[in-house]
Order: sequence, then C-alpha cells, then structure tokens
Amino acid sequence: MSESPRRYAVFGHPVAHSLSPRIHRDFARQFGIDLSYEAVEVDAAGFADAARDFFVAGGRGANVTVPHKEAAMALADVHSRAAALAGVANVLTRRADGSVEAHNNDGAGLVRDLTERHGQDLRGHDALLLGAGGAAQGVAAALLEAGVQTLTIVNRSPERADALADRLGEPARAHSRYWEDLPGLGSYDLIINATSAGVQGKALDLPFSLIAPRALCYDLSYGAAASGFLAWARAAGARLALDGLGMLVETAADSFEHWHGKRPDTEPVYATLRAEQA
Ligand code: ATR
Repeated sequence: MSESPRRYAVFGHPVAHSLSPRIHRDFARQFGIDLSYEAVEVDAAGFADAARDFFVAGGRGANVTVPHKEAAMALADVHSRAAALAGVANVLTRRADGSVEAHNNDGAGLVRDLTERHGQDLRGHDALLLGAGGAAQGVAAALLEAGVQTLTIVNRSPERADALADRLGEPARAHSRYWEDLPGLGSYDLIINATSAGVQGKALDLPFSLIAPRALCYDLSYGAAASGFLAWARAAGARLALDGLGMLVETAADSFEHWHGKRPDTEPVYATLRAEQA
C-alpha cells in the first residue's frame, strides 16, 4: 500500500488565486517529492479552528497569508527568531511532538529577491516603508538587518506606525511618520509599498517628491494589485520598479526548504510565472 502524500496548505482570505500551490508542486517535482498542497479559504473567525484541524489531521506545514498572519503567531506553541522579531508569521510547521512552530520568511524572501535576483545592494539606503500591517511587520526587521541606513515607516493610522517603529527597537535608524507628512518628508532611495491599498483596488496618491534620483521602488504584491504603485514609481523617475513576484517565489523556497530539507531552484519557476504576468 502506498503512503498518502504529505499534506501542506496555504490559509488566506481571499486565497483562490494564490500561486503558492502551484509553486510548491513545481518545487516538489524538482526532487520527485509526492505532496499535496491545497489553498484553504477561511475568514478570520474560522482561521484558528481550521488551522488546528489541519494539523490534527496530519497536515505537516502551512503558509499563512492575508489576513491571518497575526492569528498564526497567536496560535503557535513556539516561535522562530524571525517570527518573534516580526510579531507575525507566514509559516506554520507541525513538529515531531505535535506542537506547532511559527516562522516568518517574508523579510528574508524580500531581501533575497532584491539582492540576489536583482543585484541590489541595500546597505546605506534611506528606506521608506509604506504601511504597518502584517506585510510591513514581516519585512521591517529584515531591511534593517540587510543594512539600510534609515527606515521611515509611514502608515495611514499613526498608532500602527508608532507600534512597528517601537517594536524594532532601533530609534536612531527606524522611526515613524504619518500619512499627511508625506509631501514634506523629502526623498528616499528605497521605497517599499506594504499597504493593501492595491489589493483593494485603491490608489495611494503619493507625491513624486518622495523619489530620490536613482530610487528603487518595490511593491510587496504583484499583478494588478501592484500596478498603480509601480506606474507611480516609473512616472516619478524610479531607476527600478519591481513587484513582489520574486519575493513570493523566494519565500516559498524558504518554506519548502524548512519543510523538506532541500533547497529548490527558484529561477525556472520565477521565469515561467514572470512570463505569464507579462
Ligand atoms: P497586510 O497583512 O497586507 O499588511 P493588514 O495587516 O490589514 O494587511 O495591513 C494593511 C496595511 O495597508 C495597513 O498598513 C493599512 O493602513 P491602516 O493601518 O491605516 O489601516 C494599509 N492600507 C490599506 N488601505 C490603504 C489605503 N487606501 N491607503 C493607505 N494605506 C492603506
């Protein structure tokens, strides 16, 4: 009798169009690993029960996306250093003793996409992070670790920007400003859009003055959700305007390695998805 395939999943709301199942299946094919990876559509009220049921039923690991990253952190029994630093989790893993570990590889994925795929050196940059929700929390500490000189966090609701800046604990490098300050803030050579405005089909109305000469702009989302911010970046003269497709593939590769102990080759998977997005 053959063993049933190991079970993995992504939990989100909405999650139907997630590329994660396809990416994990492509990675698995590189190693001849038999796995099942499903997209689980569940709202905030149902997430904790759905995730617990998944692990009790033998699920090995799950990716967690909007809006469950904080709840994933709360549900776990243990937390990796990256998850503890971020305060939110995008990976849950069942350990041998049945306990569940929370991990966060959003920041590592972003930094690897920028530095390795796109050859950018982040050291010494003055960075502007738009947003202070789950996505922003996931990448803020990693940007500081990658060597940005300063990190300015701007959020529509000020208390969330303050809370994220406080949590980073580096007042000389990381601080908060508010949305209405944007026109007077000066310019930045790295601007990261971590808001969910694009996902909701809303425009951000950002001033061109934010863009320093040769600025690099990055949207953590991809596809139609990223198009408004990237159009603004190009119109404002950014040297490079990138969406988060590469980050998605890199975070998936980190999750895959975390679960299977093997590092997949991300390039063919990224190239195929990129060609389809064009
Ligand atoms: P995610 O996990 O995608 O970060 P989230 O935790 O709900 O989702 O956070 C969404 C982020 O996008 C928040 O920073 C939010 O700002 P508020 O904290 O003020 O709500 C930001 N955001 C969403 N829509 C926005 C808009 N139209 N303009 C500016 N910021 C927006």
